Amino acid sequence: MIAARWYVPMVVGALVMSTSDEAEAQKAKVNYSESEVKPYSLPDALVTEEGRSVTSAELWNRTRRPELMKIFASQVYGKTPTPPNPITPTYELISEDREALGGKAIRREVSIRFTDRPDGPHMDLLIFLPRSAAKDRPAPAFVGLNFAGNHAVSNDPGVRVSKAWMRDAPEGGVENHKATEASRGSKASRWAVERIVERGYALATAYYGDLDPDFDDGFQNGVQPLFYKAGQTKPEADEWGAIGAWAWGLSRALDYLETTPEVDAKKVAVMGHSRLGKTSLWAGAQDQRFALVISNNSGAGGAALSKRIFGETAAHLNTSFPHWFCTNFHQYSDHEEKLPVDQHELIALIAPRPVLVCSAEEDKWADPKGEFLAAKAAEPVYRLLGKDGLALDEWPKPAEDSLAKSTIGYRYRPGKHDVTASDWEAYMDFADAHLKK
Ligand code: GCU
Repeated sequence: MIAARWYVPMVVGALVMSTSDEAEAQKAKVNYSESEVKPYSLPDALVTEEGRSVTSAELWNRTRRPELMKIFASQVYGKTPTPPNPITPTYELISEDREALGGKAIRREVSIRFTDRPDGPHMDLLIFLPRSAAKDRPAPAFVGLNFAGNHAVSNDPGVRVSKAWMRDAPEGGVENHKATEASRGSKASRWAVERIVERGYALATAYYGDLDPDFDDGFQNGVQPLFYKAGQTKPEADEWGAIGAWAWGLSRALDYLETTPEVDAKKVAVMGHSRLGKTSLWAGAQDQRFALVISNNSGAGGAALSKRIFGETAAHLNTSFPHWFCTNFHQYSDHEEKLPVDQHELIALIAPRPVLVCSAEEDKWADPKGEFLAAKAAEPVYRLLGKDGLALDEWPKPAEDSLAKSTIGYRYRPGKHDVTASDWEAYMDFADAHLKK
């Protein structure tokens, strides 16, 4: 079933919603006032379920980290099921251009197939490599999912127009749920491709809908059915939703990068914006091969504290996007106080690896201050593991060049819910500080 909610998009705060979503969202009150934030208490990342204080890296790694992973997996995002038949992806090179972007980059498109059925799910990965990258000089890389197809990421005329299902956006060149040539480059402002290769990084990106189309279809499309046991028709209450499947895809992109000689797979940063920022955090927590994690404006269910109840809440998420989190997460709608974890612990699961949380001033729906507070509250785990925390004690004022480069990094810029050219400069400054040293 394709939920009717997507047919009449309207902009509500930061989000694209339909009339029915808007009605739902308005029914559920939104708090935008600091004075309305009620006292809340955050679970202590460094106390085990048995009540034991976690005072060593060993105890964190052996006991507490697995406990937290298990809670996020069973109560929030859903666990990645074990497929009945092992999935062994195959890679098909679709195109290569050694003179892409006016000779600045090498571009490849690779189809990653998850089954041997020609019509089975696959993910097309688009890769831009700096010309200087070579087997003996591999480039660090950014990997991230995109919202509108690989062809929308740049104006490069050689990239295949995605054939996957897409949400209609006539002004963005998507009609009858298919991207048209008019959508080429439609999201180029969010991907500073030329600057990325100029600064010596590779970029790998894939359309998130290749993994799971972003509508409530009862999990019939996308990769989930490959994981069903005999007779199963939808994920169990503690199994993944869309965010889990998107995060799984990011790890499959990393598998491929591990086979790419011009990429240094030990220096791959995973980046995501908004719902895909929630996804990059969850991917980074689960897959410790990601050397660095960036969350851009990820908000509720991402970097923002849930228990603060500011901007979007669990109830908003579960009503508007019932397919993102696992079914168990729905019990926390209007009951954030019952959540056994909060999002600072998701950030802590990335420790000791660098993580950068980016907020935008006008993005109140994502609770910028709650994103800062979660980043700050992850600090004890980073310190336990011998790292610095977040080099800010107070929530900073928004500034275009804002960037705390400590191992827990934070950026707060003016402007809207978006990814901008200056955001990319900040991601690369942060990556230079941590991956190039
Ligand atoms: C909506 C949603 C957010 C999400 C955002 C996005 O605003 O409510 O949770 O982050 O869409 O992905 O753009």
